[in-house]
Amino acid sequence: MERIGVWLIGARGALASTAIVGARAISHGLARPGGLVTELPEVAALRLVGLDRMVFGGWDIGSAKLLHRARAMAVDDRAVPAGLVAALEDDLLAVDNHIKPGFVDGGGRGAARDGKKREPLEAAVARLGDDLEQFRLEQRLRRVIVVNVASTEPPCARVPEHDTLDGVRRLIQGDRRAAVTPSMLYAYAALERGCPYVNFTPSTGATPAGVQELGWKHALPFYGNDGKTGETLMKSVLAPLFRMRNLEVLSWAGFNILGGGDGENLSNPRQRESKLRSKSGVLSPTLGYAPHASVSIDYVPSLGHWKTAWDHIHFAGFLGTKMSVQFIWQGCDAILAAPLALDLVRLTDFAHERGERGPMTQLACFFKDPMGVSVHSFTDQFRLLLDYVDEHVSRERHGRRR
Ligand SMILES: NC(=O)c1ccc[n+]([C@@H]2O[C@H](COP(=O)([O-])OP(=O)(O)OC[C@H]3O[C@@H](n4cnc5c(N)ncnc54)[C@H](O)[C@@H]3O)[C@@H](O)[C@H]2O)c1
Repeated sequence: MERIGVWLIGARGALASTAIVGARAISHGLARPGGLVTELPEVAALRLVGLDRMVFGGWDIGSAKLLHRARAMAVDDRAVPAGLVAALEDDLLAVDNHIKPGFVDGGGRGAARDGKKREPLEAAVARLGDDLEQFRLEQRLRRVIVVNVASTEPPCARVPEHDTLDGVRRLIQGDRRAAVTPSMLYAYAALERGCPYVNFTPSTGATPAGVQELGWKHALPFYGNDGKTGETLMKSVLAPLFRMRNLEVLSWAGFNILGGGDGENLSNPRQRESKLRSKSGVLSPTLGYAPHASVSIDYVPSLGHWKTAWDHIHFAGFLGTKMSVQFIWQGCDAILAAPLALDLVRLTDFAHERGERGPMTQLACFFKDPMGVSVHSFTDQFRLLLDYVDEHVSRERHGRRR
């Protein structure tokens, strides 16, 4: 039975460890696949890789073991059942053996910490690529799909070299660290070694045209950015409602509080800027105008991996009468995101198996800031996925009849 590799960047984080626990638990028959979009009957019509055929590995820069992280998710956050983590101890220890040191020094400031010698970008690309190759060969994998679930980086200022593959190569060869963030370097290493790539974070990843050119060159599918799991998901469902009822949104104020590693990381203003940018793209294109809008993100350590979003929407109806809607979203971040990461792996595997290349726009509904797609309504984005499924299902039916 052929297996595929799932190589997680940030493999010991909350999202990664929940995805690994979930995939292994479902494979062993210890949990049900609720929350996986690919288990919906209309999407499951595609013949997708089983979760039991996924072999996990990845990179991280933290030293805490995966098992330790999973236990913390169970005990401290009550995000996953403790019994499940206990039953999966051997699986988690085995995955830990496939987690390799990541690349930490990237964009400008913060480089060369602790007086340690910096790894040149070119050497890092070769090392990271070798990790992927070794994993694929040793585990006899059909392919390795790389998914970025590492901490959000600060935005990276665009330079002209980002626009072409030659330019990106020159940045790497010239060790131009301020213009090459770790997420870009990982995306480059993945695509260079023939691995499809997905960016679940708002970090730069494969956004530069020069990095995407590498994906096209090697006939690979890739996609991102930033998984859509909570407040922005609600926005992409509700904003079309106001538009379709011709109700004018006067203001939309969103307040988010969260803890955990993501919350702590986003308490840094530069990292928070990346997240706020990817969250801000839904309203104006959906409504056709720009209402007063604000989004804030605050770190509240005691919340752990639970996030609360409170949104206040002020709108005007017939005769200009003003009204409001408020919603409170309380979710466990990793539990919302982990099944989507697994969905993305399955759908990316499917696309690569069929020789599809370039941005996988059919996956727009999974992202806050989907590459190359101008529709922001969740329903319209989901329709893109269903159209893709229909097309493949009918193609396979016709193929079989011939
Ligand atoms: N609902 C969600 O959970 C959700 C939704 C959308 C996006 N995201 C994004 O997913 C990412 C992960 O979220 P999380 O809650 O698991 O965060 P986390 O802090 O628990 O985990 C991040 C992991 O990345 C590792 N890391 C940091 N820099 C790295 C590097 N250079 N190379 C390799 N590993 C590195 C950290 O050591 C840590 O283990 C974040 O960027 C977050 O914004 C999460």
